[in-house]
Amino acid sequence: MSAYFQRHRRLRTTAAMRNLVRETYLHTNDLIYPIFTVEGENVKHEISSMPGVFHYSLDRLEEEIQEVVELGIQSVILFGVPNEKDACGREAYAENGIVQQATRKVKQWAPQLVTMADTCLCQYTDHGHCGMIHDEYVDNDSSLELLVKTAVSQAQAGADVIAPSNMMDGFVAAIRQGLDDAGFINVPVMSYAVKYASQFYGPFRDAAHSTPQFGDRKTYQMDPANRLEAMREAASDVAEGADMLMVKPALAYMDIIREVKDNFDLPVAAYNVSGEYAMIKAAAQRGWVDEKGITLEMLTGLKRAGADMILTYSAKDAARWLKEQN
Ligand code: PBG
Repeated sequence: MSAYFQRHRRLRTTAAMRNLVRETYLHTNDLIYPIFTVEGENVKHEISSMPGVFHYSLDRLEEEIQEVVELGIQSVILFGVPNEKDACGREAYAENGIVQQATRKVKQWAPQLVTMADTCLCQYTDHGHCGMIHDEYVDNDSSLELLVKTAVSQAQAGADVIAPSNMMDGFVAAIRQGLDDAGFINVPVMSYAVKYASQFYGPFRDAAHSTPQFGDRKTYQMDPANRLEAMREAASDVAEGADMLMVKPALAYMDIIREVKDNFDLPVAAYNVSGEYAMIKAAAQRGWVDEKGITLEMLTGLKRAGADMILTYSAKDAARWLKEQN
């Protein structure tokens, strides 16, 4: 009888046996925690569509950074929500912009923490787009100049990694050149190489106050239906000198994560975005899913799909649960 079929269950008989054949491990080292910083004093304000995620003013940020470090998380990515917005997003590249100030502080408090800066203009422009507007169109090349200024100012503030999320063409080449010219030859670029125009960013846009005031982002972010275009985007960022490639969002794009991983030899990051986080939190609050189990399963699945690292709002929860398991 057993000659006619395989007994796969032999390797599932006990926990120890299952451990022996486990192919994928999630580790706290894989996690990058996104943090939102705001101007003002004594602000620790929960984002309503992202339970457990807060806006922090700089004087309250240290407690969050200490917690991250205690949990063993090795990297954060900083987002800024400025008070002042204008047509050219001036606060994005101001020496004392919110992210520049936050970066300097974080590097003081936790010099060993890999501190990434998201390089984009949408939180800083009054129109909410990721670049300069000409005739209601987001102009590519004039946006590049401002993005380079933003990246250099972030590196000057001490950012360890520049993570440009704007989806202008040529942004990696421009930023690499700008960083090198300013002497930051050792600051890597983690390119949001494959970023889709996604509904899964909804809660982030509430959190970052970055909803476009007219139109949408479809002339620069990618069509969710496209796969080959993702490979073209990734290939050009590799050619332009990216050090790491990101796929964003994560859950609905696991095939893309795998394909980027298989086609390029750079480390791959997956951005487990705000909408993905909000869905789990909402269902867990109703008792419809087991939050711990489903979150660890999701993150492990992203690693299995090929992600070397994961940007996730669940990083602190996951780090806590992983600790309990050991
Ligand atoms: C800025 C940016 C966005 C996210 C990260 N950087 C939003 C957007 O493009 O609208 C989304 C992150 C998330 O949803 O968690 N360009």
